[in-house]
Amino acid sequence: MIRHSGKAIWLTGLSGSGKSTLSEMLKRVLESRGVPVVLLDGDLLRQGLCRDLGFSTVDRAENIRRAGETAKLLSEAGHTVISAFITPLESIRRAVRGIFSPGRYVEIFLDCPLSVCEERDPKGLYCRARSGEIPEFTGISSPFERPVSPDLSVPTSEKTVQESLHLILEFLEHRFSDLRESCVVGRSVRGRARRVVVLGLDCVPPQMVFHEEAKDLHNLRALMDHGVWGDLRSTDPPITVPAWTTITTGRDPGELGIYGFRNRVDHGYDEMVVVNSSHVRARRVWHYLEDSGKSSILLGIPQTYPAQPHNGITVADFLSPDVESPATFPEDFARELHALAGGQYLGDVRNFRTVDKDRLLEDLYAMVDRRFHLACNLVIHRSWDFFMMVEMATDRLHHGFWRYGARDHRLYEPGNPYESVMGEFYKFLDSRIGSFLARLSDDTTVLVISDHGAQSMAGGVRTNEWLIRNGYLTLIRQPTEGEELSWSMIDWSRTQAWSEGGYYARVFLNIKGREPLGIVDPGDYEALRDELTDRLSSIPEENGRAMKNQVLKPQQLYRTCNNVPPDLIVYFDGLRRRSVGTVGGGDILCSGNDTGPDDSNHDFQGIFIGAHMSDVRAGKRNGTRIENASCMDVTPTILHEFGIPKPSELGGSVIHLDGGTCSADMNTKKRVRVESRPDDHSEETLGYSPEEAEIVKKRLMELGYL
Ligand code: ADX
Repeated sequence: MIRHSGKAIWLTGLSGSGKSTLSEMLKRVLESRGVPVVLLDGDLLRQGLCRDLGFSTVDRAENIRRAGETAKLLSEAGHTVISAFITPLESIRRAVRGIFSPGRYVEIFLDCPLSVCEERDPKGLYCRARSGEIPEFTGISSPFERPVSPDLSVPTSEKTVQESLHLILEFLEHRFSDLRESCVVGRSVRGRARRVVVLGLDCVPPQMVFHEEAKDLHNLRALMDHGVWGDLRSTDPPITVPAWTTITTGRDPGELGIYGFRNRVDHGYDEMVVVNSSHVRARRVWHYLEDSGKSSILLGIPQTYPAQPHNGITVADFLSPDVESPATFPEDFARELHALAGGQYLGDVRNFRTVDKDRLLEDLYAMVDRRFHLACNLVIHRSWDFFMMVEMATDRLHHGFWRYGARDHRLYEPGNPYESVMGEFYKFLDSRIGSFLARLSDDTTVLVISDHGAQSMAGGVRTNEWLIRNGYLTLIRQPTEGEELSWSMIDWSRTQAWSEGGYYARVFLNIKGREPLGIVDPGDYEALRDELTDRLSSIPEENGRAMKNQVLKPQQLYRTCNNVPPDLIVYFDGLRRRSVGTVGGGDILCSGNDTGPDDSNHDFQGIFIGAHMSDVRAGKRNGTRIENASCMDVTPTILHEFGIPKPSELGGSVIHLDGGTCSADMNTKKRVRVESRPDDHSEETLGYSPEEAEIVKKRLMELGYL
């Protein structure tokens, strides 16, 4: 027997917008599917339970409170309750939503202009209201506020009754799998998810979500309370591009041969190139899913520009040269993009360094709003099995506002006007996540993931200047004070080591026979790496004490090292200090930053939350904290949720969402060859024209990545 879990479907709209007609039709359809339905209608309740109430604001609020409490009792007894009330004010709608546990309530707005309702006037009430016979009549002499965030809007004046009913049914079937005609209760019957959603939140550190102070992030909490959650160890380096690419492939950055935003193409001295989707040779999770006939919707996932053909839809990431019109697959999806986003879709914020803070914040809100608007539209109206999006606004928020809210930041001032910006923004984001989750069916698995964390930036270390002063790096001319090092300034005949900066340093050695003008004898390679490791580990702080730096050899970190790995990777002071690229004059340590925003630096731990929507809605299971999860585990976990065994070439472990522990497998070193994707016949890496590469590079510098 199918057990239907109770729920409330709340229809709001003007008198004459179609509430009674549609709710009765909906009741009949659902009952024919074996769903136990109760209909609560304003006109009917006002004859009995609410007959003492009139149409003042106070009486309307009480009317809806009684209706809401009744609907709650009935839904808890397993009924699907359809409520048809004008519910004219946003405050009243908010109050009634608050009566229900999240996920058991949907608000459907029957959007019909007053003029059309008045023309229809099925009960002749508008006419009487106009003549003054009926006072306080909604839309005429009493307000109707447009719903701010209904779960579904149905433009009933533009559709036939059948079309409107169809829209509502389609929405409800997506949202509640047990209302479908076939009445298959997804997971519990088949033992696995029918759909998986990954909500990527760039740069969200555990403390922002897991800390006691974040308990008002109700929607994220609901997932945690009924699923598993814990820190997610980022990749080495803990940087957006390698991290998300590892998350979506199950391969470490060494296997991928992607060590940062920019990579050396060979051992020559050409400037590094910004990596894009054509550099990702490994199969991504959606390619594995395609083997099982599954389709994917991919929004804003790093390394999806240029948008590659696949079974589904892609809106490319923030590394699209034009962030206001990111590339899409299929190409003509771009034409619908902005309309589906409810306004200009933003791949990223514009002019990160030059805008004032208020403008930046406005853009961040708009960016999240539109991306979630698009996401909400797509999950309802398109067919998909796997949906993944990455929201970059959290990262930009930290880089722009961390100092105002983080008490340990050196520039933090108590009582500053932006003090609560981050907290408020997270609450807004959580509410958008809530509306998104409300649109998912019970058979969906949801993962919320961040690629790395954030922490206060303590300053920078001028790595190349340190290499110059310690005799490892020589320039062909004296640099001006604080000049940005370009590789063309290096005297290769007298250089043993040079570095590329950002949130961490990559150090390259100039090896004879490997680099065109190498001078370090290959036999001295390990000795030089060890010497630099020792010396870079203990660069003194301003107070003379040795900084706690970590200097790592890629071969210790990765299962294999493809393309051109750095010879050393340096994390200064637990990533609290960045590696600053300027040379000439001044100190080795600096307090600010050379190029990018100087509020927050990356940190090693991101977040992982995983839950089955059916458990969240049924209030089942207590949340479990997990340990040792890593970015490597995400792809195997997604595949596992679809019942697909972990491909043998992947290194991570499955994170069991029913509370089983996982163990990260980052240190298992075995030689792995990364096979090209079967559809990838080219050795060529395409993507940016030289002009586009410049645009993207400039943006990355503004954002502090380079
Ligand atoms: S609500 O505002 O409290 O949500 P409800 O849905 O219960 O209203 O009742 C609305 C119905 O009451 C209308 O469909 C109409 O038939 C009747 N009605 C009578 N007077 C009014 C009025 N002043 N304003 C709106 N509806 C009225």
